[in-house]
Amino acid sequence: MAISDEDIQKVREATDLVALFGERVPVRQRGRDFWCCCPFHNEKTPSCKIDPSTQLWHCFGCGEGGDVFGFVMKMDDVNFPDAVRMLADRAHIDIVDDRGGNRVSSSKKARLREVCGETCAFYHEQLMRGKSAEADAARSYLGGRGFGGKVPKKWKLGFAPGRSMLVRHLSSKGFKYEEMVEANVAVQRDNGRVYDRFYDRVMFPIFDPQGECIAFGGRVIGDGEPKYLNSQETPLFHKSNVLYGLDKAKAAMTATGTAIIVEGYTDVIALHESGIENAVATLGTALTIQHVRIIARHASKRIVYLFDGDAAGQRAADRALGFIDESMTPEAGKTRVELCAVTLPDDLDPADFVAKRGVDELRELVAGAKPLIAYGIDRRLAAHDLSSAAGRTRAMADALSVLAPIKGSVLAKDYAVQLAGKLMMREQDVLDALAAVKAPRVYDRAEAGDAQQAAQPEPQVEISPAERSRRRFERRLVSLLAQNPSIALEHADSLAQTQWHDPTNGLLAQSILETLAANPSATPAQIVANASAKAPRAAGALTSAGVQENEDLASTIAFLIEELEIGDMEQTLISMNAQLKDPELSADERELVFAAIVELQKSVTAKRAAHKPTL
Ligand code: UTP
Ligand code: MN
Repeated sequence: MAISDEDIQKVREATDLVALFGERVPVRQRGRDFWCCCPFHNEKTPSCKIDPSTQLWHCFGCGEGGDVFGFVMKMDDVNFPDAVRMLADRAHIDIVDDRGGNRVSSSKKARLREVCGETCAFYHEQLMRGKSAEADAARSYLGGRGFGGKVPKKWKLGFAPGRSMLVRHLSSKGFKYEEMVEANVAVQRDNGRVYDRFYDRVMFPIFDPQGECIAFGGRVIGDGEPKYLNSQETPLFHKSNVLYGLDKAKAAMTATGTAIIVEGYTDVIALHESGIENAVATLGTALTIQHVRIIARHASKRIVYLFDGDAAGQRAADRALGFIDESMTPEAGKTRVELCAVTLPDDLDPADFVAKRGVDELRELVAGAKPLIAYGIDRRLAAHDLSSAAGRTRAMADALSVLAPIKGSVLAKDYAVQLAGKLMMREQDVLDALAAVKAPRVYDRAEAGDAQQAAQPEPQVEISPAERSRRRFERRLVSLLAQNPSIALEHADSLAQTQWHDPTNGLLAQSILETLAANPSATPAQIVANASAKAPRAAGALTSAGVQENEDLASTIAFLIEELEIGDMEQTLISMNAQLKDPELSADERELVFAAIVELQKSVTAKRAAHKPTL
């Protein structure tokens, strides 16, 4: 792997799991643990536990669990190295990462953040206190649009004066030209000199979800081209996964379970200022699947895409129909966030709409947004003349193409039946046409496959209640061992001899012992991480053991080990008794086996008598 174990460990130590959860979901302390509603499934009462001492988490509702990296991997849909990189970045830790090519050390990124932060402060100062006529114009422009009062301060709006004032200011603060250029707040011209990238524009700083400035959008004051000039891609700023306003909207998204996506910076500000605080905007780019995933982390129920009524908005609406996929069908199981859409009337954008019609009408519009599939079908129907039979046939074909990605689903059939009603056609004809539609190539297929595999239940073998309880004991034991490495070490020998009934438990125990053999002071989080690499659901399993307040874990673990040991002895008794029945056994052998049975039976009885649960 490209990242060393030492670096992984450094990042782990610098990251606090409770704080990490707290950034995404409301977390509450109960006893020595912290609890929250699980971010990975829908629930109203918290069943996800965060253990600050082991730095492990577990949801008793859905069975997911793991360490800090596992959390980021699930939450942000990234692989292990990326999870390490993200947390390194968050903790401002430099890690050696020989991915080669375009590696960006986190200290460099930290530096670029400083450039952006200082630039943001400079522009803001210029807007609030600049003495030039241009600064005056910027102030009155914003004021005239209803963005006066507290708005500039809250959104850190700014004014870019140009004339290399920013470059000079950043130099005076000790920033190098290369850093300014790399953060894309300055550009180097052919003559080698470095100039401000933005001049004579109203500035909208773009923040990451934690509220740190990472980029800018600059609007001309009044009319002019280009209307907006935005930061280009930088190591800090990737348009396809940044949403304007998310830092301010995420709390409202979590609270309401819903989000609104609009197109413009000014739309976000106008909506927030009129009390709709769950709105974010893409940055002049099409909505991407990353955007949707990021928003869905906060808004678990419904995402409404508000399309501008103009031609550009309509193109965006058509592109969004590409998001229709199997995850939206009932067959996908698990409740998914519902993606809805609505087009604003009369060429208006959300900011205009609120100004002209008021916030209540906008709320109504949002409430009435249709699921993306229904929205898409209606859009397609609207493009045809439904008064003629030929027009209706074309409309049907066009509308069915929206359903192509989910054509096998019952949902597609429902829509097809509704469509037949709207077009006054025979249901069977529309269903036949649906069946004949070519399904598009499935992108993300690998991922869909993974999800399916994960959703498949473990193979069910008929097992007796005694066997089930044995496996439960095993599971609780391995989980407690993972969470209490020093106690696990004391029992290494007997654990190595245990006959694991559930092979996964055996695999987990083996992995725990291996980690501790290599590093006797390994932490629970390290143990869980190593095991995750060996068994697919290891993290959920090893974090699953709940612990009572004041429970003496050493005794509990000793009890469980003894329980398994006695079970193993009883199993041996059974097979020895079976041996006695073997006709080929000589008299001498029989006597030996018999003696062994008696001996073993005695110690089993003694052990059972002394074996009492501690709770
Ligand atoms: P709009 O043209 O709808 O702008 O573009 P707006 O946000 O409503 O701005 P105002 O209210 O006219 O001032 C929507 C978004 O598209 C991107 C910007 O992110 C803008 O917010 N855009 C637009 C650009 O990047 N460049 C442009 O030249 C225009
Ligand atoms: Mn607009």
